[in-house]
Amino acid sequence: MTQRRYIIGGNWKMNTDLETGMALASQVADVASTCEACDVVVYPPFPYLQAIDSVISSSPVALGSQNFWPEASGAFTGEVSCDMLKDLSVTSVLVGHSERRHVLHESNALIAQKVDFAIERDFQVVLCVGETIEQREAGNTLDIVLGQLQSGLESVNHESMKNIVIAYEPVWAIGTGKTASAEDAQAVHGAIREALASRYDDNVASSTRIQYGGSVKPENAKELFACPDIDGALVGGAALSGESFAAIIEAAC
Ligand code: 13P
Repeated sequence: MTQRRYIIGGNWKMNTDLETGMALASQVADVASTCEACDVVVYPPFPYLQAIDSVISSSPVALGSQNFWPEASGAFTGEVSCDMLKDLSVTSVLVGHSERRHVLHESNALIAQKVDFAIERDFQVVLCVGETIEQREAGNTLDIVLGQLQSGLESVNHESMKNIVIAYEPVWAIGTGKTASAEDAQAVHGAIREALASRYDDNVASSTRIQYGGSVKPENAKELFACPDIDGALVGGAALSGESFAAIIEAAC
């Protein structure tokens, strides 16, 4: 089986200011420098990308973007292009995050378009999938998650899968303090990996990293990372404190 490196992402969402963001990035750079077993990515708000890059550029921490618009340039007021992100040393992008699906109403079609656009420009694409509480309670978790997966990867070929990371983030666990149990998370991660095997092949399935996201904290990180199909975490709230994000990174080291 392919050895997968853990990947820990800190999604800062619409939080921090310039000063606290730079201080946080510096703490993340320090801890990432001591951990060789995992990849660390931070996703700061757009206005701080350049400043955060100046803090992490000589560390192993990669710079990520929470969003972009899938056109090269033009009349898209308020949007940011992939080439602009490239200029700022961004290498990873989030696509399909639940807040963009449910709060900003991004459709599966737009999400697939974004995946293709960013893959063509050689970004690492973190495709986020996850069910709402109503969908879980109705027993539809796998239909929803695997449907989002299939739709997001519709035009992604074998070769491009090396640039894809999947993040399973149950919507009901995001920012609520409720984490999926390690068993429940593992069951969905296992199903995602099986779906990758049937859509692609065993090689793609065993080499694609699948992060868990949703109230990951230092207290539950180790148990989640011990699951065979959980390859790291996409962290929101706990990524805003240098201490707690460091503890999560250390749990993967
Ligand atoms: P929380 O860790 O705050 O639940 O957020 C998870 C998330 O949405 C990461 O993208």
